[in-house]
Amino acid sequence: MTQLASERFLHESIAGLTQTPKQLPCKYFYDQRGSQLFDQICETDDYYLTRTETAIMQQHAREMGECLGEGVMLVEFGSGSSIKTRYLLDQLIRPVAYVPVDISREHLHTSAEQISADYPTIEVLPTCADFTKPFPLPNPKQRPSHDAVYFPGSTIGNFQPDQAKQLLGSIAHMCGEQGGLLIGIDLRKDPEILERAYNDDQGVTAEFNLNLLHRMRKELGATIDVSSFEHHAFYNAEAGRIEIYLRSRVDQTIQLDGQTVQVEAGELIHTEYSHKYTIDGFAETAAEVGWTLRRSWTDENDYFAVLHLVVL
Ligand code: AVJ
Repeated sequence: MTQLASERFLHESIAGLTQTPKQLPCKYFYDQRGSQLFDQICETDDYYLTRTETAIMQQHAREMGECLGEGVMLVEFGSGSSIKTRYLLDQLIRPVAYVPVDISREHLHTSAEQISADYPTIEVLPTCADFTKPFPLPNPKQRPSHDAVYFPGSTIGNFQPDQAKQLLGSIAHMCGEQGGLLIGIDLRKDPEILERAYNDDQGVTAEFNLNLLHRMRKELGATIDVSSFEHHAFYNAEAGRIEIYLRSRVDQTIQLDGQTVQVEAGELIHTEYSHKYTIDGFAETAAEVGWTLRRSWTDENDYFAVLHLVVL
C-alpha cells in the first residue's frame, strides 16, 4: 500500500477500536492474502453467491446487453478479475468504453490489460478510485449514448441502508439521464443457508475474517494475539443481514501506534455486514433516489438477483 493508504488504514483502525462497540472496516479484508482467501470462499460448497450470480450472468447476458442498449460506456464498481464482466462485455452492443473502477491500483491495471487484449474494439479506461466517494469519469474517444454502472457481487450489501441509498443516489447522479445500473444483490432466504455461507465448514471464512488482524500486525505493526480471536457470524432476521465479528476468547490488550486498547473476554469486534434483500424492497429504496426497475433475473432457487434499473 502507498503511505497515504496505510495511514488511512491506521487511522480507521484506531477510530474503530476506540469506539463502543468496537469495529473494523470490511474494505480492509482485501490485501493479497485476503483476496486469495475470498477467491477460496467462492469455491466452497457453502458460499453460493458468486457461483449463482455467475450462472445468472452466463445465462442472461444477451438480454442484459440488449437492456443496457447500444453505445454504452460501462463503468464497473469494484472490478475484480471478473469472469462475470466478460459475459457482459461479450454481449454489449457496440460499447464505447469499459471503465473498471477499483481502489487497488496493481489489481486494476493487470486486469484492465487482460480485458484490453481480449476486447480490442472496446476502449478500456481503468480508473483508480474509492467509489464510495465522488470521482470524475474519464472521457472516452467516442461519445457514448449513455453511461451505465455494473455493480456485481452484492457488494452493495456491505453498506448500511442509509449509506447504500446514498451510494445508489450518487450513481444515479453520475450516470445522469438515460443512465443505467446493473446490480447484483443477494436475496433473503432460509437463515440456515445464509449462516452456512458465512460459516463454511472448511473454515475459510474464519481465516478471511482473522486475516484482518494479521494484516494489522504486518502493515501497522500492531501487537495482537490473533489466535485468541475467533470468527463469529450469524443472521439478524430483523435487520435482514449477516453480521460478522471477531470475538476475543480472553481478556487482552491490543497495542496500536502507541495506544493500548482493552478487549474483554467474549467481546465482539464488528467487521462486516452483508445485507440481504427482496427485489421489491431494493427497488423501492432505489426509486427514492431516482431509479426505476426495468428488469430482474434470478436463479431457479431465487437465491440471488441481478437488477437493471434506469434513470428516466
Ligand atoms: C464480497 C461483499 C459479496 O458479503 O458475501 C464473504 C464478502 N464476507 N464472506 C459478502 C464476504 C464473508 C461478500 N461480498
